Amino acid sequence: MYSNLFALTVNCWLPLLMGCHSRQFVISCLYLPDACSSTTGRAGYFRCWSHFFGGQEMNFNMSKCLESFSLALDFAEMDYLKVNMHHSRRVTYIALNIGRAMGLSEDDQKDLYALSLLHDNGLTLSGLKLRGREFELMSDHCIEGERNILSIPLLKPRENVIKYHHENYDGTGFYGISGEDIPLFSQIIHLSDSLDTKFNLTKLGFQRREDVKEHVMRKRKKFFSPIVADALLSFLHKERFWADLLFYNIVEVLNRVAPQIVYEYSWEDIFPISETFMKIIDSKSKFTYRHSRGITEKIGLMSTFYNFASEKKMKLHIAANLHDLGKLYIPNSILEKPDKLDSFEFSEIKKHTYFTKLALDKIPGFEDITGWAANHHEKLNGRGYPESLTAEDLDFESRLMGVVDIYQALTEDRPYREGSTHREAIKILYDMARGGFIDKQIPTDADNVIGASVK
Ligand SMILES: [Fe+2]
Ligand SMILES: [Fe+2]
Ligand SMILES: [Fe+2]
Repeated sequence: MYSNLFALTVNCWLPLLMGCHSRQFVISCLYLPDACSSTTGRAGYFRCWSHFFGGQEMNFNMSKCLESFSLALDFAEMDYLKVNMHHSRRVTYIALNIGRAMGLSEDDQKDLYALSLLHDNGLTLSGLKLRGREFELMSDHCIEGERNILSIPLLKPRENVIKYHHENYDGTGFYGISGEDIPLFSQIIHLSDSLDTKFNLTKLGFQRREDVKEHVMRKRKKFFSPIVADALLSFLHKERFWADLLFYNIVEVLNRVAPQIVYEYSWEDIFPISETFMKIIDSKSKFTYRHSRGITEKIGLMSTFYNFASEKKMKLHIAANLHDLGKLYIPNSILEKPDKLDSFEFSEIKKHTYFTKLALDKIPGFEDITGWAANHHEKLNGRGYPESLTAEDLDFESRLMGVVDIYQALTEDRPYREGSTHREAIKILYDMARGGFIDKQIPTDADNVIGASVK
């Protein structure tokens, strides 16, 4: 009883002591016990803690953020699952329609939106561990995805939604969970996902609509929850549903129907989301599995050395985590090629920074982060990519990101060469500075600061 009383007291007063806003206060009251004892309810919990630690809050559009990050994930899905582009977007569109037909509350729809968009987020991580073993890849991505999702702020605890998103209603799925033991959102995502993988929804002819209906009715109670299947069947006659799926731009379609998740977040709140995506990006290839993490660590050291303000530091960390987001667009056949890349493959690789830019610059508030992340292969003499920017276009943070990226890449093994030592890498940086490619001062600072950390 005393522990309950303590929990209640802490829950009710801690947010006030921290100065949280009313929404956070409610979320904290709901979640703090869970957050203390388990992994659920992270959103309200860490939001309050970041506020306590002085994070400046702003209105942040989480829908845009998740939509942008997951766009890159869609490319990785194409690479791993051989599905059509925008798989998660179509799954999300169908899931939202089912959710609305079932009368889900607005908050539930927001969480359903986030979880549907990210339902296959574990693919790169499980792909890295299980290269080539297809069935295990399928079941393992559910576990990896569940683990990753812990950093995504949700409005309610949503345990096991991702873990069980391929479970069949009759218990014949990967984990043998059946009936209503499967979380409702998992059931909705499972049905939506199976429609997109079984039918070519982007080109579905009028005649085949009946096939979809017949498939759902036949698998109702076997694969699909009857309540969820009935919700889907209730709107399959609507022309709008099919027209949206066939529309050439599903991103625009989803924007039209997506719930707006706009709350007060601080950069400290957004950082863990970027960290999750950093892990997803790094695990795309075994040769870069520590690349972004290594850059973020070194950017941290350099930011401290330059005495950057805490907001700039945090934004630089986020930019470092996401700088190679566009690598998710590049097929593994190129990323993991055992030989040197030919000129076509190299031009494909070069696109990754542009894709990073395309993904990030849709997020309001991310302007600095987008530039610092997307400019990491630009050079002062205009010989970088993707925009061939020059010295006057590149601010100090972009130059810093570029130097740290080169250092990190040089010190990592690649399929065709071993990683350089610190001394060798610094020598190359000095040569590049002399040749007018990179900033002259940063290599000296990196030698001192990073050199001290690797001794
Ligand atoms: Fe999946
Ligand atoms: Fe999927
Ligand atoms: Fe890069």
